[in-house]
Parts: sequence; C-alpha cells; structure tokens
Amino acid sequence: MDDADSLDLASLREEYDVGAIDPDTMNPDPVAQWRQWFTHASESGVYEPNAMVVATVDEGGWPQARNVLVKGVDERGFAFYTNLESAKAGELESAQRASLLFSWLSVHRQVRVVGTVTRVAASEADEYFASRPRASQLGAWASPQSDLIADRSVLERAVTDVVARFGEGEIPRPPFWGGYRVSPVLFEFWQGRPSRLHDRLRYRWADASWHIERLAP
Ligand SMILES: Cc1cc2nc3c(=O)[nH]c(=O)nc-3n(C[C@H](O)[C@H](O)[C@H](O)COP(=O)(O)O)c2cc1C
Repeated sequence: MDDADSLDLASLREEYDVGAIDPDTMNPDPVAQWRQWFTHASESGVYEPNAMVVATVDEGGWPQARNVLVKGVDERGFAFYTNLESAKAGELESAQRASLLFSWLSVHRQVRVVGTVTRVAASEADEYFASRPRASQLGAWASPQSDLIADRSVLERAVTDVVARFGEGEIPRPPFWGGYRVSPVLFEFWQGRPSRLHDRLRYRWADASWHIERLAP
C-alpha cells in the first residue's frame, strides 16, 4: 500500500457550489475586485484571509513558495514585510518578479497575481514596523531569517541580547528588515463550480489597460 492509499487521498473531494463569476458584474479594476473578494472572504470567516503564497524562482531555477501576510493593498500593488537578507528577498531582488496566491478555500475561491517587485520605501517600512507588537519587533531583530542555526537556543540568546540592547526604549526598524511590493500585470479570479467546470477570469495589463478574458477550467 502506498501513502496515497493509506491516506485515502483519492477519495477526498469537495463539491464547489457556493458561487459563480458573472463577468458582467466583475469590477473592471482588478484591485477593486480583489478588495471586494477579500471583504467577502473576511466576512465569511476565512482564516487569515490576508495570507498569500509568494512564489519566486531561486538562482538554480527552482520555484520557491511560502506564505506571507499582505499588509497593504492599493493602486501600486500588494505590500508585505520580511527580512531583507532572507532567501525570498534575494530571489525577489534578482528576478524583480513574483507570483502571489490567495487561497480562500472555504468560499471556493483563489486569486492569482503576477507582478513586478520593488522595495517598499523606508519611511513606509518604518511606519509599519512601529505599528507591530513589541515581541514581533524583537523577533525581527533576533532572527537571521533563512540562515542555518544550530538549535532554538540561538534564537533565545539573540532575543535576550536584543532585549538588553533596547531595554524599555523604542525599538527601531532593523536595517535588514523591510517590505516588498508586487505591482500586478496579471490577476486571475477563480471560483469553484460544480462538475469541475469552474469559472476563471483573467485580467491582463496590456496597452495601458486591463483586458478581461475567460479561461477554461
Ligand atoms: C500564515 C503565514 C504567514 C507568514 N507571514 C510572513 C510574513 O509576513 N513575512 C515573513 O517574512 N514570513 C512570513 N511567514 C514565514 C514564511 O512563510 C517563511 O517561512 C519565511 O519568510 C522564510 O522564507 P524564505 O526562507 O523563503 O525567505 C509566514 C508563514 C505563514 C504560514
């Protein structure tokens, strides 16, 4: 018996039947449409609706994907924060392209975004860092994100050092911590439908406007 049999993966399936995409009522501005779906996901109780997978490509050409939390969305794109010396940061800086994926599974939706990558301005990163809980600020200083560490005590010692360094005072943003913004050139809104005949609507930026196209599921 292989793993798939013992986990009974082959028989796990859901019927997607809670919604549909009517192209006539979709907002011609995909960011506005994303906001509407995000609000719906949030109000429907989707867990961490601001979680998104960020997909990059590493220097060996291997795709790499991980979740982050989107912290700002506007006409410039989707902003998130991270360690600027992490693996993802190197990949974002060298390719200057990324894909994002929002998986709002309990409402049978996903949204895919593809875009170009820029760094969030230092002033904006400062403002967001200042709004974070103190423990998260200390954690940002303490973790050499993506580096090899021997064990957890490395982190615990680093936190102790950072606490001693800053005392009760304000904790500034680490110079190695900041944000990236993905400015979309493509969106795909996906709504699960019965019989696997799902709705997919793509927004493609070309010739200075968004072009809306339906894709086969
Ligand atoms: C729900 C969720 C949210 C996360 N949010 C962030 C985030 O906002 N920023 C971040 O750097 N890592 C976040 N992480 C951790 C990343 O997935 C990842 O482990 C880390 O950033 C290191 O990735 P890298 O080595 O590819 O750079 C989150 C993980 C999960 C599961």
